[in-house]
Amino acid sequence: MKVLLAVTGGIAAYKAVELISMMRKRKDEVKVLMTESAMKFVSPLTFSAVGNAEVYTDEFEYRGLISHTGLSSWAEIMVIAPATANTMAKIANGMADNVVVASALAFEGPKMLVPSMNVRMYENQVTQDNLRKLSNYGWTIVEPESGHLADGEVGKGRYPDNAKIIFEMENLITKKDMDGLNVLVTAGPTREAIDPVRYISNRSSGKMGYEIAEMAALRGAKVDLISGPVNMPTPFKVKKHDVESVREMAEKALDLLENADVIVMTAAVSDYKPEKPSDQKIKKIGDELNLKLIKTTDILLEISKRKRPDQFVVGFAAETQNLVENAKHKFESKSLDMIVANDVSRKDIGFESDYDEVFIISKASEPVHIERMTKREIANALLDMIVTQRSRKF
Ligand code: CTP
Repeated sequence: MKVLLAVTGGIAAYKAVELISMMRKRKDEVKVLMTESAMKFVSPLTFSAVGNAEVYTDEFEYRGLISHTGLSSWAEIMVIAPATANTMAKIANGMADNVVVASALAFEGPKMLVPSMNVRMYENQVTQDNLRKLSNYGWTIVEPESGHLADGEVGKGRYPDNAKIIFEMENLITKKDMDGLNVLVTAGPTREAIDPVRYISNRSSGKMGYEIAEMAALRGAKVDLISGPVNMPTPFKVKKHDVESVREMAEKALDLLENADVIVMTAAVSDYKPEKPSDQKIKKIGDELNLKLIKTTDILLEISKRKRPDQFVVGFAAETQNLVENAKHKFESKSLDMIVANDVSRKDIGFESDYDEVFIISKASEPVHIERMTKREIANALLDMIVTQRSRKF
């Protein structure tokens, strides 16, 4: 995203430093605007160092070094975080006496406010009237949270979680081409018990499935995410169902199948499980220990047997050799609408990595090669293809 981040003079100004740091990690491009009073809380240098960003203050404007109209046309979205009562009052009344409010007046794209202040100031009728007015003028308002405030009082006015702010920004600028669709995603590894303390699992981080779930939700879908044990936060607006074993994953998936329009199976599901998990911890007795493994349910196969013609089923193929050939075989044997093949033997992509490089196989075309890119970008490319092919199907 290309973001114009405006910081105004509230005690929460320091939290915008974490916001810009998070955006930098996501590779967003950010330019910062600060009011005079914001600079009393945090120095412009902090933002430029932490965010590797240009920071503009009134001084630049007065010296003619920038034009707020130029900045306004550069950005995809403008966010004021934190937004003080004073700044909101100025914008609600069309004032343009500093670089932040002047830019707000000139900005025509999606705009967001993150109000943060003392509870009584927030609840004051004037502030509430201004917020209503700003909402009518097209501003998206991220509600403050309730809790302990900087001045010792308790109430509504706290600056919200920065991850939520980023989600709301993305939500605002993402096209809603999956509106009305129910999407079911499986993600992460499964765990099959050997005894009460040991299990069979795999290296799946769940990242790809989580990115698909989050992007589908941002694109307007209602998303159910069935997840094995992973170390990742639940994406906003996604309903997560935690499972461990293949049996639990299969039950949940078949349970939710009927309502799903699109099913994306990214989970790395165990193909085998111990025949008889021990009730007690297995003791170290002999030199050898033999575990008898038996087959688990192939969830994807079960789904493809039961699916209706209006449902779109996407599988993933984790391969270490003959990538496209093996994936094509799975595509046909499980009669899928699409399969995403990735090479899990490579260290620079795949399991535990933020990156992937895949081939997407479908009936609609020859295998499509998606070059190495972030899993988030791949998730979006995949959803683009699902949306287009689904619309052709009807
Ligand atoms: N899958 C599943 N249930 C299983 C095994 C796999 O639902 N018991 C799904 C995966 O989520 C994935 C696809 O099937 O979408 C292919 O998984 P993969 O492990 O690549 O292939 P397998 O079918 O298990 O075949 P093989 O292990 O022989 O490569």
